[in-house]
Amino acid sequence: MKIVYLPGDGIGPEVTDVCRAIIQKLTAQAGVNLQTEDHDFGGIAIDNHGDPLPKATLEACQDSDAVFLGAVGGPKWDKGGPRPEAGLLGLRKALGLFANLRPVAVQKGMEHLSPLKTERVAGADILIIRELTGGMYFGEKKEGDEVASDLCIYSKEEVERVARVAFEAARKRRGLVTSIDKANVLASSRLWRKTVVALHEAEYSDVKLTHELVDAAAMKLIQAPTYYDVILTENLFGDILSDEASVIPGSIGLLGSASLGSGGPGLFEPIHGSAPDIAGQDKANPLGAVNSVSLMLRHGLDMPEAADRVDAAIAGALKDGETTPDLGGYLTCSQLGEALLARV
Ligand code: NAD
Ligand code: IPM
Ligand code: MN
Repeated sequence: MKIVYLPGDGIGPEVTDVCRAIIQKLTAQAGVNLQTEDHDFGGIAIDNHGDPLPKATLEACQDSDAVFLGAVGGPKWDKGGPRPEAGLLGLRKALGLFANLRPVAVQKGMEHLSPLKTERVAGADILIIRELTGGMYFGEKKEGDEVASDLCIYSKEEVERVARVAFEAARKRRGLVTSIDKANVLASSRLWRKTVVALHEAEYSDVKLTHELVDAAAMKLIQAPTYYDVILTENLFGDILSDEASVIPGSIGLLGSASLGSGGPGLFEPIHGSAPDIAGQDKANPLGAVNSVSLMLRHGLDMPEAADRVDAAIAGALKDGETTPDLGGYLTCSQLGEALLARV
């Protein structure tokens, strides 16, 4: 089994190191022959190779069973020239990763970690499914000093394939899909809604489907998070709503993600960025990355028992108050990593 690590920039390498040790231990426990490779990606790849996604990095990812990413970006590469984020978009596109799963759950007894009221967040368990290779991120761009534009474009086929992932997921959960769009204004959202409705009628009428406009949904997500089961939404809305949703369990440092396509290697990464404000200080919360390890074991490597152990280790650490400063705790990133390693 081959895992490619892309530690990236800022806190990326710090949280990846925690995950590396956990994966090493779990695969050894399971008797799996693990090969790993590290590759430059993002800002560090611009520095070393002039390209955020060098050919050797992409080829290694294509030739792997799963790709694990820390984070990319930072102020150093914000001053013109190639951008680290372009490497991430290029990798998602090249691997065909159209469905990005971002689970958001409040563990029983852990409601106090949220800045929101306990009674509002208790029991919240949401799976955000964000379309990842279309929309405004990939439509034609016109850069300019006076006028600039980003085209938001979706095809029926792009909507249908990600909607299918959402309906299938809902069948294994509580059976509700909430599709979030801006169909009162955007043509791409009207196609989105029409396509989701048609697929629902044709193949998934056992699942309950509701639609919300993204502005009202952003409000309701915080006001009544327990309403939601599976949220299905387009690329940009999903990016924004998932950062917002991270305050339901308590910190952006908690959420992991799985980016999946049709059969090739998946990409597993925390939803947060490179956090330049805390990078290099051993302060980052590694749990979002570790949650991504669980997703990788479950959805990318067919190791569900190992995934369960990771979930249990995270739950145990939170229960025993083993947290980093973003959640009011005193542990460093590496101390929490050691504590998790002992638990798996
Ligand atoms: P960010 O997610 O890096 O940070 C936002 C805030 O959350 C900061 O205050 C940061 O300290 C905090 N935070 C983030 N992760 C944390 C963690 N694990 N533990 C504790 N606190 C954490 O977002 P940003 O500051 O808007 O972006 C910084 C850079 O990261 C930008 O270059 C951006 O493009 C990039 N970015 C990359 C990814 C990715 O690689 N997938 C995702 C988002 C942003
Ligand atoms: C994320 C990030 C990326 C995105 C950026 C870094 C390209 O914010 O993974 O959520 O917008 O998809
Ligand atoms: Mn984001």
